[in-house]
Amino acid sequence: MNNEPVRIPPAKTLRGELLVPPDKSVSHRAALSALLSETETTIHNYLPAADTLATLDAVKTFGAKTSLQDTTARVTGVGLQEPPEPRDIIDARNSGTLIRIILGIATGFGNFACFTGDESLRGRPMRRVVGPLGEMGAEIRGAGGGEYLPLAVLGNGGGLRGGEHRIPVASAQVKSCILFAGLMADGLVTVVEPGRSRDHTERLLRACGVDVTVEELPGGAGRVGLEPPERLEVPAEIRVPGDISSAAFWVAAALVVPGSEVRIRGVGLNPTRTGFLDILRRMGAEVEVGGVAEGISGEPVGELLVRHSVLRGARVGAEDVPGAVDELPLLALLGAFAEGETVLEGAGELRVKETDRVSAVCEEFGRVGVEIEERKDGFVVAGTGGVRGGRANSRGDHRLAMGLAVAGLASREGVEVGDMGAAAVSYPDFLRHLEEISCW
Ligand code: S3P
Repeated sequence: MNNEPVRIPPAKTLRGELLVPPDKSVSHRAALSALLSETETTIHNYLPAADTLATLDAVKTFGAKTSLQDTTARVTGVGLQEPPEPRDIIDARNSGTLIRIILGIATGFGNFACFTGDESLRGRPMRRVVGPLGEMGAEIRGAGGGEYLPLAVLGNGGGLRGGEHRIPVASAQVKSCILFAGLMADGLVTVVEPGRSRDHTERLLRACGVDVTVEELPGGAGRVGLEPPERLEVPAEIRVPGDISSAAFWVAAALVVPGSEVRIRGVGLNPTRTGFLDILRRMGAEVEVGGVAEGISGEPVGELLVRHSVLRGARVGAEDVPGAVDELPLLALLGAFAEGETVLEGAGELRVKETDRVSAVCEEFGRVGVEIEERKDGFVVAGTGGVRGGRANSRGDHRLAMGLAVAGLASREGVEVGDMGAAAVSYPDFLRHLEEISCW
């Protein structure tokens, strides 16, 4: 792929309507559930991006039949009872969600399986899932004493134990890993998390006939439990909503580029994913939510109307992080345009994403003129009324690439983004959409 730096010039204003790409989290889960069904599942509006193509390849390696035409994926899985051994090493490439959930599935299957990923994923922590899976009875070996990929599930025939798992950070990937493994356990499996992470797995498994219980605990914590079913009754058709984390780039851009008005249709509005909108409202942003309807896989869908707004700085704390975890880098840009200081705290999880997003955001947004100071678990941005522009690099992180491009639209001199191609991990049409709504 030609991955020359891309210069994003300042836009006069942003106008128009967009349909954002299909949700990455829901696409992964739809394909992985379909692997556990013996009948064919048609997934409408499947995300055809690098991360979710890796998922289709992975389920194929596990023995599923798959096809993808445009955004329609078809998967005929192997069921829960007698899955075959995977025929090759599974390469999860850049995807943290894929590797964590599929490790849960592989240990439940109980066959020998090997896993790897790209350079970024090979540096991300895996003990957070290897630990709980070990408590369930799985034997997993990996680099760094089991902390890193490559990892091997030794395959002791499954036979996972039920039980309760208390996870130290609110992480939908860890929770989902345990729940997917729990589908093949010998009794009730529960996960207690300190905050409420995205609940797509719970919604989808319920739609597959699984008895899933959710309990709210004091202090924002939650307990999710599931009873292992005999088989997974995956609906014949699943429809994936648009990705609010992709919509977030246009929301942020429209808020800071004067005169903008952008409508975004078909956006997933699952309440465990809309924390960014709550933060924006605290900053004084004008974002209207409309037309909310329940989608067929239990996910609410609606539209967003965003207008340029005068913003004020805000404090964003640990309680805000699970509901807005992927959107937090955009605070570097919004904070620069807001009056006063914007403070992000309690966001240490950002350090173990596709890049260390605390230091990468501070350094790369700093290079284009944002006054931003790195803290142990967040950053502080000074409201200076705008962004100068300059050269920055995504470091191969899709969300950094798109965040820097949006900074370019809002800047005085434009931003040249190195490795803009990283956007293809979740949003292959990003630059086309940028052209569509920008008035130069
Ligand atoms: C995801 C969960 C989040 C998020 C990631 C997708 C998911 O990670 O950052 O992009 O689909 O479950 P954590 O659950 O580890 O915070």
